[in-house]
Amino acid sequence: MRLLVTGGAGFIGSNFVHQVMRATEHQVVVIDKLTYAGNADSLAGLPADRLRLVRADVCDGGAVDGLVAECDAIVHFAAESHNDNSIDDPAPFVQTNLVGTFRLLEAARRHGKRFHHVSTDEVYGDLELDDPSKFTPETPYNPSSPYSASKAGSDMLVRAWVRTYGVRATISNCSNNYGPRQHVEKFIPRQITNLLDGRRPKLYGTGANTRDWIHVDDHNSAVLAILDRGRIGQTYLIGSDGELSNKRVVELILTEMGRPADEYDLVKDRPGHDLRYAIDASKLRDELDWRPAYRDFRAGLRATIDWYRNNESWWRPAKREVEARYQAKQQ
Ligand code: NAD
Ligand code: TYD
Repeated sequence: MRLLVTGGAGFIGSNFVHQVMRATEHQVVVIDKLTYAGNADSLAGLPADRLRLVRADVCDGGAVDGLVAECDAIVHFAAESHNDNSIDDPAPFVQTNLVGTFRLLEAARRHGKRFHHVSTDEVYGDLELDDPSKFTPETPYNPSSPYSASKAGSDMLVRAWVRTYGVRATISNCSNNYGPRQHVEKFIPRQITNLLDGRRPKLYGTGANTRDWIHVDDHNSAVLAILDRGRIGQTYLIGSDGELSNKRVVELILTEMGRPADEYDLVKDRPGHDLRYAIDASKLRDELDWRPAYRDFRAGLRATIDWYRNNESWWRPAKREVEARYQAKQQ
């Protein structure tokens, strides 16, 4: 199979390409604009006879059309992905996440290609901290931030293109990912690299907000399962029962890195900060027989810390500017 992977130089997309190379015989073309979040080095060392990287914008209808015509299926990861950035400047989120998805859907419709749309559980809004319920595919959409609203809109475009034009698409909504090659602006890599730099981890608000962590390889094995045997028009929620408060995650990072568990700073909270996300992935498990490989968050976190320790040249160029931006916002 020939896969067109959008955003394949980003965190999840690059790990997806690595997994495709390990676990399948597919050919891959990556289309990536290489924004601040994209890094061609994330694809270094992969077999050149199975992988091509094209630097282009998914909003460029002409570029997208030619690449879609040549592939069998599209796996759409490309997005502006960071909530804090979307609060500071929502414009690129509306452009890439909505217009980019629209261009890809139009090309998939013209050429009759299979389309998988990678989305987030944040489209459902948030849950109360003391609410035992979890998100299901039936939970009403209720996004809070410009990022999650733009992703919610992109999901709606996919649903409409399935129903109106018969595009063969599936959607997945996944919880927070962790693992190697995640940009240092994101929560876990920011705290690990702060500690490597002798800085203290920074927790927004009280640190009580809760996220449902999944290893990036488990997210991607689920995407491959959906691509392979998911039902057209369906939405699958991806998660692996990894709920932890942000404070607990920081305490674990500190402990794993040999520091006292309370050596962190509480900083200014994010406006509109979602309280809690939690995924019920039973549809994915029951229908597609998918199971996560990473059951032990602490072991996955340890491996992630090691990756950042051993790959400073990958993250160092972005670190100073990211911290300067956070500092200017007292975060
Ligand atoms: P990322 O920011 O690390 O990577 C995004 C990639 O898309 C980068 O390589 C960037 O260069 C590329 N890109 C951005 N705009 C583009 C454009 N206009 N044209 C072409 N390429 C463009 O993001 P990520 O964390 O890897 O997230 C990937 C996808 O997974 C996103 O759709 C995101 O909404 C979704 N998702 C992320 C998480 C998470 O925890 N990170 C969880 C659930 C879903
Ligand atoms: P983030 O990685 O931005 O993912 P998302 O907003 O998609 O959940 O943040 C994860 C959680 O960590 C979120 O509750 C915000 C919080 N956070 C901090 O407490 N400190 C930080 O430095 C960052 C970047 C995030």
